[in-house]
Amino acid sequence: MADQRIVIAIDGPSGAGKSTVARGVAERLGYLYVDSGAMYRAIGLFVFEQGIDPANAAAVAAGAATIEVNLDKTAVGVRVRVNGRDVTEAIRQPQVAQVTSRVSTIPEVRKLLVPQQQRIGPGGGIVMEGRDIGTVVFPRAELKIFLTASAEVRAQRRFEQQREQGIQSSLEKTRQEVHERDRRDSTRTVSPLLQAPDAVYLDSTALTAREVVEVVVRLARKREEAGPERRV
Ligand code: DC
Repeated sequence: MADQRIVIAIDGPSGAGKSTVARGVAERLGYLYVDSGAMYRAIGLFVFEQGIDPANAAAVAAGAATIEVNLDKTAVGVRVRVNGRDVTEAIRQPQVAQVTSRVSTIPEVRKLLVPQQQRIGPGGGIVMEGRDIGTVVFPRAELKIFLTASAEVRAQRRFEQQREQGIQSSLEKTRQEVHERDRRDSTRTVSPLLQAPDAVYLDSTALTAREVVEVVVRLARKREEAGPERRV
């Protein structure tokens, strides 16, 4: 029996398997799974559809402030809604991913979403994945994982995932997109993708998702047993 429901932060580059692992860990522990990238993607989709220039920070920030983003847990998984409209599938388009990576460099966008994410934390029992969860959103999370894999494997996984979602692409194009997003997500000045000093580094290149889930669940159980030190 768990002694304490903790906060688990999973960060890493795109295609490292964060979503699969975070969802699997949440399921095993009976925790809430939160995909922070989906919130950034919801704003990216809005900007894309409204034809707002992603480089125009003021216009993006003004637009983002007018929309309401919700992650709703349903019988068929978490649904992402923007002003009530279900955008769960629409936010996965590769063009939206590129716009999202650009709008997420805007400080006002992060100032809008980070507090929303932090409000989910204090009770514990959550697994949140993203780029800045262990560094900015929950710097005192009991367990932080930095999940990565080789660039080639990440591009292949992203390509497979897109194919399953019915998105047309080529491996070469996906490789370039992953590379471009890595570069942007890691070099932006506000909350860049960084490994927190106290994060556990996990390279999933040669591991299956199930194996990674196993490692994280084991670490989480140890932290749960460590006692009532609520750090968030
Ligand atoms: O995890 P993802 O691929 O769905 O994320 C989409 C984009 O959102 C990614 O390019 C960077 C951004 N993002 C971010 O800046 N901070 C987060 N915590 C999560 C995602």
